[in-house]
Amino acid sequence: MSNIGIIGLGHCLPKRVLTNHDLEKLVDTSDEWITTRTGIKERRIAGKDEKNSDLAIGAAKEALKNAQLTADKIDLIIVTTISPDSNFPSVACLVQKAIGAKHAAAFDLSAACSGFLYGITTAKQFIQTGVYKNALIIASEKITNLIDWNDRATCVLFGDGAGACVLGKVKGKSGIVADYLHAQGEFGHLMSVVSDGRDPLDKHNKLIRLPYVVMYGQELFKIAVNSMARAVEIAAKKAGLKVSDIDCVVPHQANDRIISAVAKKLKVPKEKIFVNIHKYGNMSAASIAVALYEAEKEGRIKKGDVVAMVAFGAGLVSAANIIRW
Ligand code: UT7
Repeated sequence: MSNIGIIGLGHCLPKRVLTNHDLEKLVDTSDEWITTRTGIKERRIAGKDEKNSDLAIGAAKEALKNAQLTADKIDLIIVTTISPDSNFPSVACLVQKAIGAKHAAAFDLSAACSGFLYGITTAKQFIQTGVYKNALIIASEKITNLIDWNDRATCVLFGDGAGACVLGKVKGKSGIVADYLHAQGEFGHLMSVVSDGRDPLDKHNKLIRLPYVVMYGQELFKIAVNSMARAVEIAAKKAGLKVSDIDCVVPHQANDRIISAVAKKLKVPKEKIFVNIHKYGNMSAASIAVALYEAEKEGRIKKGDVVAMVAFGAGLVSAANIIRW
């Protein structure tokens, strides 16, 4: 019996770079504070005319090319995002149209920073049950649209980008060995997007502010470390492996200090952990997808390696996925 695995990866990043020094001119912050507290040096910001779907389409095309598949062979498109172009049509349908995947079902999935792993696990079920053969999972965010650029506590943290993978049947021992999805809705208030409610009878209803992210960083930090470490342990156990069997961990890139604390908790040496937060900041769902793409490109993941992806984000949701490459 063949396993289900990743057969092609892609990514797409906006060209525009916003450095910590650029941010020093916008809010009361410093390169030193951002670097020591988060590990971020710069991030990518999509331009006014660069939509989430543009990034998603770019990542999808590269993943298809690397999978050596044409779009008509894709049965399912899932875009995991919390920052779509608009409420509808879904980004997945915009991608379907752009790449010409005329036989595909398409929908968006909202699981914040854990979206890429939620998407992979969801698509896997369709392939496992024989409903579909090939699925395209795209994690795409233009999260800078949701940021209050006066709030130094949040605006320094995020960036835009997209990553994608094609999921299908793979030969030999490679493929997804275990996955784990978890949610803690009781802590949802710790990170949310707020907007002014619209009452049609309110005479001020024309004064609508854009929605923006509100975050309780310190509280999230502790839950993030515990949830991510626990997710890896559970997924490894489900895979019949020890945490020490993992060759490369690709974690969500919210804060380099969170990543280090997870590594310490799991007793995994930092050399085994892939980190690219210094270049991109927190790209929500796209963080792991782009990190996985770069880890493979840079030779940090090789054939036969055991790879663990682990995520944590608003919801709160956490997830882990173990793949033999
Ligand atoms: O994507 C998944 C969900 N997100 C997370 O998991 C994020 C988890 N949390 C974090 O990564 C960290 O809590 C943050 C990076 C958000 C904040 O780091 P922190 O070490 O927890 O800082 P803090 O919020 O405790 O703030 C420390 C100080 C405060 O000043 P006082 O009260 O000590 O005088 C803040 O006002 O740093 C101040 N501060 C800043 N100073 C300069 C907050 N933001 C900034 C800033 N520049 N950008």
